[in-house]
Amino acid sequence: MTSTQKNWTKSSWRDHVALQQPQWPDQGEVDRVLADLSQLPPLVFAGEIRSLKELLAKAVTGEAFLLQGGDCSEDFSQITAPKIRETLKVLLQMSIILTYAGGKPVIKVGRIAGQFAKPRSSDTETINGIEIPSYRGDMVNRPEPTLEARTPNPKYMLKGYNMSAATLNLLRAFTRGGFASLNRVHAWNQEFVVQSPMGRSYERLAKHIQQAIKFMEIIGIPADNPQLREAQVFTSHEALLLGYEEALTRQDSLTGGWYDCSAHLLWIGERTRQLDGAHLEFFRGVLNPIAVKIGPDYDLDNIKKLIDTLNPDNEAGRLTLITRLGMKKIEKILPPLLREAKREGYKIVWSCDPMHANTYTAESGHKTRNFNDILSEITCFFETHWAEGTVPGGLHFEMTGENVTECTGGARNIMDEELHRNYLTTCDPRLNAEQSLEVAFQIAEMIRS
Ligand code: PEP
Ligand code: CO
Repeated sequence: MTSTQKNWTKSSWRDHVALQQPQWPDQGEVDRVLADLSQLPPLVFAGEIRSLKELLAKAVTGEAFLLQGGDCSEDFSQITAPKIRETLKVLLQMSIILTYAGGKPVIKVGRIAGQFAKPRSSDTETINGIEIPSYRGDMVNRPEPTLEARTPNPKYMLKGYNMSAATLNLLRAFTRGGFASLNRVHAWNQEFVVQSPMGRSYERLAKHIQQAIKFMEIIGIPADNPQLREAQVFTSHEALLLGYEEALTRQDSLTGGWYDCSAHLLWIGERTRQLDGAHLEFFRGVLNPIAVKIGPDYDLDNIKKLIDTLNPDNEAGRLTLITRLGMKKIEKILPPLLREAKREGYKIVWSCDPMHANTYTAESGHKTRNFNDILSEITCFFETHWAEGTVPGGLHFEMTGENVTECTGGARNIMDEELHRNYLTTCDPRLNAEQSLEVAFQIAEMIRS
């Protein structure tokens, strides 16, 4: 698909029902903000978006692997250099572990630089007997449980744009300016992880990589080339606020195609993928790679129609389906989906989100996920693909470079009672740096054998 789809404009979604949109108190103010946003420079370029799509085409056939991860919901107050650096470090570490084990390039995509809008199961919540709007992400309102904080404010969309620009700027500097160089693979280990078993496993791997680089240099292959010196990290977020996405959608001067330049990859969430809904209408017309989340109650016919709508030309790299089925159900409900897609010859990147269907509430009231449940969904994902003769193409994580206690289990065996120690997320629980490395090492074991 290289040309604009039939009867599509970047505003045609407005004739469809858009779920999960905030109740903005003043539509005039929203329109003014969106008009301002539409005059601002794009955050990413069409050429970069096309490169990502080409890489994803390789994940369809198993020549590359997609690793997507980051916060459930980015927090404006946490957009700082150390925080961005720590997230990048874990993403690079996980990617190197998987590259080394899997013997194929890993496509690194952050849930970063724009992951500011959240779908919620309920529009409101009642706190101390008062009904207030639910928190919908920093681009909409604030998490504090007061009516004032929770009232949607369109100015946060402008702030979200600026925060995304600042984050992207630093990411580009880190990935191009030497920080992500494979020569520095040792330096990505977090201080609080170095002494742990995971930290030590990582150190051993880093040593192997450095030896390989040294060997190359000895035999005369210069290590100072962009493949070693630079990393490519792409950005992604759930494309929820369609006004914002429309305002950042631009026509590429080179090809005439329309690209949503708010991020390289956008995904449509489980709650907003209705066939006749506004989200599908908007995304069928932009040329970015698109991902769609698929939960356990999916309807096969509906998914086939969704695939035909978003990828009518069956272009490899255009569509990623992220299954999030839960460790109890995946074994039963993933095979029929894979079989039908295989029968139809659909070119799809199959990714696994082992987080969202494995959430439970601990006795302390914290929303959490258990490390073993996460690993068990991942294991079943790989085994099912291998059994069906389809390609497990990627993984999708909620994770952070920080030493948080939000998911239970893992090498340090975080217990329900310990969650309160450093529970920082404003939305869903994330794997901490150590748990992220551990999950990567476990997957490495599995794909190596
Ligand atoms: C998410 O990725 O944070 C999310 C809300 O996912 P899903 O749409 O799969 O529930
Ligand atoms: Co989430």
